Amino acid sequence: MHETSTIADSRATITASRRISPDTSVITLACPEIAGAARPGNFVNVRVSSSTQPLLRRPFSIHNAENGQIELMVKEIGCGTELFCRTEPGTELMVLGPLGNSFSEPSGTFSTAVLVSGGIGTAPMRFLEKAMTAAGKKSINLIGGRSQKELLSDNLSNCRFSTDDGSCGVKGTVVDLLDAEISAIAAEGRVKIFGCGPTPMLKALASYCRQHSLACEVSLESVMGCGFGICYGCSVEIANPEGGTRTILLCREGPVIDGALMV
Ligand SMILES: Cc1cc2nc3c(=O)[nH]c(=O)nc-3n(C[C@H](O)[C@H](O)[C@H](O)COP(=O)(O)OP(=O)(O)OC[C@H]3O[C@@H](n4cnc5c(N)ncnc54)[C@H](O)[C@@H]3O)c2cc1C
Ligand code: FES
Repeated sequence: MHETSTIADSRATITASRRISPDTSVITLACPEIAGAARPGNFVNVRVSSSTQPLLRRPFSIHNAENGQIELMVKEIGCGTELFCRTEPGTELMVLGPLGNSFSEPSGTFSTAVLVSGGIGTAPMRFLEKAMTAAGKKSINLIGGRSQKELLSDNLSNCRFSTDDGSCGVKGTVVDLLDAEISAIAAEGRVKIFGCGPTPMLKALASYCRQHSLACEVSLESVMGCGFGICYGCSVEIANPEGGTRTILLCREGPVIDGALMV
């Protein structure tokens, strides 16, 4: 995992906002400093309103970064995300980032990156897939959701799907989909798994990867306040390689961790 060194608090203008599903939007913000420093897996902390409500910023993975702009894929689940998705292009918002660590450099000894995501967990995968392609690696996206209408595959290639209700792709979880696909994928070369999604999904994914000796990195979520290590609002327990567990601040030592450390 790669640490971030340059962090900017930028006044960023929303240049575009488009709906990709009934409750999810891709929002583009002009913020050259953040876009230039961002790596796949980083997140930003956004003041979604110029009023005092909501008081705290909201964290979002960087979905894409290019030409001085970042894109965020935002799912409406409460007051902050609803406000953000309804904010008009032209509005200026404060954006702090890039924050957190990033997925490892794609220069590792694998030839295929298997990007496993569930729900809004697809958000960081576009940026990661672009980095993999630039490094000459093949990417395969395994995407899970409760039903077809919850599958998000905006601008991703080579996608295969699973749904809990069987309305698209394999009926079952995205880990069932991985299990169905892994032999054929691994027959073509060495693989590495990259996961993002709800915590129960990531626990199941990390456990599957441990059982099958697959290298795996996962991007976790927690409640966050400051986003850079001063409020202690984002502590998460992970395994300690020397034994037992230890607590990390996810905004600094995460959000990406080695799947082997998931408890
Ligand atoms: C590192 C990181 C990256 C993230 N990336 C994305 C992203 O790319 N796109 C995206 O849409 N969301 C992402 N999230 C989640 C996003 O930050 C929350 O959905 C958002 O803060 C909710 O704000 P709200 O005001 O709309 O909801 P609130 O009104 O604050 O909460 C509404 C409900 O959602 C629950 N909730 C709040 N935050 C979370 C959370 N993190 N996980 C699960 N439940 C939560 C609350 O407990 C409450 O029940 C990320 C979170 C983290 C920590
Ligand atoms: S969010 Fe404040 S310490 Fe991590």
